[in-house]
Amino acid sequence: MEILITGVAGFIGSNLAERLLERGHTVIGVDNLNYGFMRNIEFAKNHANFKFIMGDIANPLILNTVKADIVVHLASQKIPRYTNALRTLEENYLMLRNVVQKCIQDKSKIIFASTSDVYGKNPNIPFSEKSDLVMGPTTVKRWAYALSKMYGEQYIIANHDEYGLTYTITRFFGSYGPHQNLTWWGGPQSVFIEKAYKKIPIDIHGDGSQTRTFTYVDDTVMALVACIENNKSDNEIFNTGSKEGGEISIKDLAILIWKLVNGKDSEPMLNYIPYATFGNYEDVMRRVPDISKLCNTLNFQPTWDLQKGLKAAIEWQKKYIT
Ligand SMILES: NC(=O)c1ccc[n+]([C@@H]2O[C@H](COP(=O)([O-])OP(=O)(O)OC[C@H]3O[C@@H](n4cnc5c(N)ncnc54)[C@H](O)[C@@H]3O)[C@@H](O)[C@H]2O)c1
Repeated sequence: MEILITGVAGFIGSNLAERLLERGHTVIGVDNLNYGFMRNIEFAKNHANFKFIMGDIANPLILNTVKADIVVHLASQKIPRYTNALRTLEENYLMLRNVVQKCIQDKSKIIFASTSDVYGKNPNIPFSEKSDLVMGPTTVKRWAYALSKMYGEQYIIANHDEYGLTYTITRFFGSYGPHQNLTWWGGPQSVFIEKAYKKIPIDIHGDGSQTRTFTYVDDTVMALVACIENNKSDNEIFNTGSKEGGEISIKDLAILIWKLVNGKDSEPMLNYIPYATFGNYEDVMRRVPDISKLCNTLNFQPTWDLQKGLKAAIEWQKKYIT
């Protein structure tokens, strides 16, 4: 199949491109390199079935010259505190509108990268795809990202209803591993790994009791491959996360990473940063997916546990520690 990946030079996009090329698909990748890196797609540079287009998806003309069976739309503004809420809302909408219009015109399927963040403050764990999406106040800008993804999901489903757009929506739960962004843009793992290697205190937001369920990128990518290759994924929403029992607090994650890097007898150095430092901010206290729909519908099983995945991520990141 011909697969177009938006955000191909980013973390998930580059890992997905690699796996799709291995499986004999043709990949066209678009990225403006705002948060991605050419080094992530170096492996594909001379691959006969890979084409890279440098450009901004918010510009509708950028997709004019390409056509694909499936568009995996990963390009996104993620954390509003890196830019601002307005850019998150506007750019995520503009990109999605262009991709949806292109998919309708070409009769391509869209696979849309949504996020576990859409469950927001819902306290009922684990989240199934039918769970309520509970947002905080609109005056707190961190919700702009989740809202842009909720809007994206509704926008896609509305285009399915009106124009027959075929879609799959994947709600990713914290992915990590090789090619992860080395700043907070990529989540806590890479930042914690760097601090542990350098033996300087790991910054923990709040008291670190907030939990997450992390997914090694191979599992994230194989779930996407299943959505690409199996049409039982058509017009469905899937939580995309790791094996049961993977929930861990941020404090325990920091300790685990410290010990994996420096040895089990080394005393972790942790530095707690009050939430107030981030201004008007709200964190989500627990995030646990129910992935039974993904597993049962697409015959999928995640295979990586956190220890094994972190060891692989730590090994990969070694070369970037200066
Ligand atoms: N990584 C995770 O754990 C996670 C969790 C939940 C949801 N997601 C979603 O999955 C998708 C991929 O995440 P990721 O971690 O690989 O992010 P990433 O930032 O590493 O990759 C996104 C890529 O999109 C590119 N991009 C952004 N805006 C663009 C634009 N206007 N035009 C062209 N390219 C543009 C960036 O340069 C980057 O290379 C995103 O939509 C994100 O919201 C990721």
